[in-house]
Amino acid sequence: MSDPTEISEEAVSAAVTAALTAISSAADSAALRVVRTEHAGDASPLARLNALMRTVPNDRKAAAGKLVGQARGQVSQALTAREAEIGAAEAQAQLAAETVDVTAAASAWRPGARHPLSLLQERVADVFVGMGWEVAEGPELESEWFNFDALNFDEDHPARAMQDTFFVDPPEAHLVLRTHTSPVQMRALLSRELPVYVVSPGRVFRTDELDATHTPVFHQIEGIAVDKGLTMAHLRGTLDHFVKAMFGPEAKVRLRPNYFPFTEPSAELDLWHPTFKEGARWIEWGGCGMVNANVLRSAGIDPEVYSGFAFGVGVERALMFRNDVKDMHDMVEGDVRFSQQYGMTV
Ligand code: PHE
Repeated sequence: MSDPTEISEEAVSAAVTAALTAISSAADSAALRVVRTEHAGDASPLARLNALMRTVPNDRKAAAGKLVGQARGQVSQALTAREAEIGAAEAQAQLAAETVDVTAAASAWRPGARHPLSLLQERVADVFVGMGWEVAEGPELESEWFNFDALNFDEDHPARAMQDTFFVDPPEAHLVLRTHTSPVQMRALLSRELPVYVVSPGRVFRTDELDATHTPVFHQIEGIAVDKGLTMAHLRGTLDHFVKAMFGPEAKVRLRPNYFPFTEPSAELDLWHPTFKEGARWIEWGGCGMVNANVLRSAGIDPEVYSGFAFGVGVERALMFRNDVKDMHDMVEGDVRFSQQYGMTV
């Protein structure tokens, strides 16, 4: 619009029409703010018309003032009305967007689950606690002395090579990732008064590649009892009770001669698994034997007075044949869906 030079009805009504058109076509409050500045602000056509008041001769001042005043009032009213309209619409849209449907089905909440290996270890520990045994833990980063020497593995005894060991730097520290839970035997004997009845579940490490039946990190449960007059019969009776508690009243154990440096005599521990998926059968499960006299002596115990038995079983292996897990990968991958199948008990 060209700049008006005098206050005329045409100029005023043109400014009002332009303002009302702009106001009614403003779609949201941001657009309306721009319209307000353009049509009612200090630089708007109506403001400029108003500024011409001082050039109006005195006799026409009243009429001109009324004309411009009414025009400004009309525009201002239209702005206020449109503002309310847009404000209400925007509030409505916001409410709709933020609506919470309280009747909607809750989105599924996935509870976690304890790992079946942990549950199984606890279950085994419970069986022994029920017989009055204690549960002990030993360090996973173990001194070579506890892992081998104290267990009667000679410096260059081929038995050291039986278990492929992760040696830990620096070599002079003589630390290893324990290859079995048997170092807990010696720790238990050194830290307790006799008699000792201790089970120790825990993680062990060997340099195996991960495949369906091996994993470099796995779990064992160790048991050691040292008392006066313990014999192989006590070992057998204890294991028998243990497997019945874990695998049902028809389960039993079979001992086959074997060699371990820290037990003498030593035996392979086989389990008669009455409910095995593919039919009842003998399954190799671990090792056991009478604590070697040299081990007792290393712990300062007189083998003429005391004797003891020990055993060790694999936890992953037990989960495989007890719960029909075919692939070790399932146990190490940590997918909660695997654990959830076991619920809160194994
Ligand atoms: N530590 C042995 C192993 O890992 C098992 C074992 C434990 C054997 C206790 C005898 C006594 O193979």
